[in-house]
Amino acid sequence: MSHLLHHFKLSSPPALLEKNPFLDFIHSALYDPNHGYFSQRSGAVGVLERSIKFNQLEGIVRSFWILLSTILLRLAPIFWHVLGRKAYMKHLDKIYKQSGIAWFTPVELFKPWYAQGIAEAILRTANLSVPLKLISGYLIYEIGGGSGTCAKGILDYIMLNAPPRIYNNMTYISVEISPTLAEIQKQTVGEVCSHLSKFKVEHRDAMDRSGWASELVEMNDHIDLHVCEYISTVFCAKQIDRKSIVFSLSLMAGDVEQQPCWVIMLEVLDNLPHDLIYSESQVSPWMEVWVEKQLDGEGLSELYKPLQDSLIKHCVEILELDKNDTKRSSIVSKAWSKLFPKPRRCWLPTGSMKLLEVLHAALPKMSLIASDFSFLPDVKVPGERAPLVSTKKDGQSSDYSNYLDAKGDADIFFPTDFWLLERIDHYCSGWLKLQKDKSSLQGRKRRTITLDTSSFMEEFGLPSKTRTKDGYNPLLDDFKNTKFYLSVPTHNIK
Ligand SMILES: C[S@@+](CC[C@H](N)C(=O)[O-])C[C@H]1O[C@@H](n2cnc3c(N)ncnc32)[C@H](O)[C@@H]1O
Repeated sequence: MSHLLHHFKLSSPPALLEKNPFLDFIHSALYDPNHGYFSQRSGAVGVLERSIKFNQLEGIVRSFWILLSTILLRLAPIFWHVLGRKAYMKHLDKIYKQSGIAWFTPVELFKPWYAQGIAEAILRTANLSVPLKLISGYLIYEIGGGSGTCAKGILDYIMLNAPPRIYNNMTYISVEISPTLAEIQKQTVGEVCSHLSKFKVEHRDAMDRSGWASELVEMNDHIDLHVCEYISTVFCAKQIDRKSIVFSLSLMAGDVEQQPCWVIMLEVLDNLPHDLIYSESQVSPWMEVWVEKQLDGEGLSELYKPLQDSLIKHCVEILELDKNDTKRSSIVSKAWSKLFPKPRRCWLPTGSMKLLEVLHAALPKMSLIASDFSFLPDVKVPGERAPLVSTKKDGQSSDYSNYLDAKGDADIFFPTDFWLLERIDHYCSGWLKLQKDKSSLQGRKRRTITLDTSSFMEEFGLPSKTRTKDGYNPLLDDFKNTKFYLSVPTHNIK
C-alpha cells in the first residue's frame, strides 16, 4: 500500500524528508517561508503598545470593600485576590480585543519586569560561569527573540544597573528564524540608540549547525579583543600583539578559546518541531510516525515505520533509562497487553534535542536560561506531551483535535517536559552517557535547576511591580503552568 502513497513534502529537499519526515511536517507548518504560521503572520507574536500599569488596576469601588473586609477580616485577602484577578482579566480582554492578537507572551505582558528578572539572573550567575575575570563585557545570545522586548529590557537593565564597562562591552546576538520578527526586533531595540552598536540580529534557523560555524570565528575575535583590552589596561602593554597575549593566556588558564556566554530562549522550545512515536500496545516496540499525502492529493495520513532516526532513538533511550523491567514483570505485562492492548502515542522533543546538540557543540561554556509551558490545558490532540493546535478566526480562538489540520493557519505548541529537558541537556553536554555510547569524549558536568516562574521572579525579579491595587499578582498567580530552566557550566569534568 505504501508505494501508492507520496510522502508529504512542503519545502524540504527529498534527502531531508527521508531522514526525518515528521520533524519536517511540523517545521513546515510553522516556519515554511510561504505558508508557515510564523512567516505568514506578523502578529504571530503580539507586541503591546505600552506596558500595563498593574499598580493602577483595581476591582471595584475600594471604600466599599475596605468596609466589608474590615467586617470579614479573615476573608478579606481572598476578596482582594478575586477582585484583582477580575480587574486584570477585564483589562486583558480589552487589550486582546483592541489588538486582534491571538496571544501575548509573558515577556510582553509583564514588560519591562519580566526581562529585568532575567537580566538580574544573568548578573548574578556571571561569577559562576566566568572563572577568570578576563572578559569585561557579556556575550548574550537570544534564540527566537519575538518582538525584541526581552533584548531591549535586558540591555536597558544592564545599562542602568551594571558597571559601565559591562554595558559598553556587551554583545547581544539575536538568532531569529522569522524575517518579519527579525525586523521588528531591530526597531524595538533601536528605540535606545546606544543599544544598537551592541545588538545584532541573525536571521537564521538556530537548529542549523552551519549557522554557528561562522559564529565561532566571530566569537574568537570577540574574546581576543576583550582579552587584549584587559591585558593592555592591566599591564599598560598596548604594543603586545594579540597572538602572543592569547597564547600566554591559554597557558595560564588552560582553556580560553571558548568564551562564556548566555543563551536565552523564551517560549521557543514549545514551538520547536517534535517527533511522534506510536506503539500498538503497552509492550510493542515504538514505531516512527511519518506523514503522507493521500492518493487524492488532498488529505494527509500517518504511516508507521520501525525506529530509524538517530535523534528519535536517542530520545527514546533517554526516556527509558530508568526502566529496568524484570523478567517477571515483562511476562505479566506482555500477557496483559495481549488481553487488553492499549495503543500508545508519545511526542518527543527532538527539535529541542537537535538545538541543544548544536548549542553545546558551538558554545560549550554557555549558561542557558529557558522558560516555557510545563503543562497546557484542554489539549485535544491525543498522546503524551501532545501539542495544542490553536487558531484564531474573527477574534475567536479554536483548537484543532488533529495536528494534520494545521497548515499555516494554526500555532502548534507543545508542553515542555522539564525533567526530560534536563536529561537531554546533560546528554548533549556529554555528561549523560547512553548504554550504547562508546565515545571516550569526556563530558562536562553542569549545574541545572528547574524553577516555577513565581520562584524565579521572586528570586530575581521585582514582583511588587506586577501586583494589582487589590493585591492580585498575575505574574506569580496566573502563570502556574510555566517554568524556568537554568543550566550553567561547571569547571569540573567529574
Ligand atoms: C512563541 S515565539 C516567542 C517569542 C519571544 N521569545 C517571546 O517570549 O515573546 C517563538 C519565537 O521563536 C522563533 N523561532 C522558532 N524556532 C526557531 C528557530 N529554529 N531558530 C530561530 N528562531 C526560532 C520564532 O520566530 C519566534 O520569534
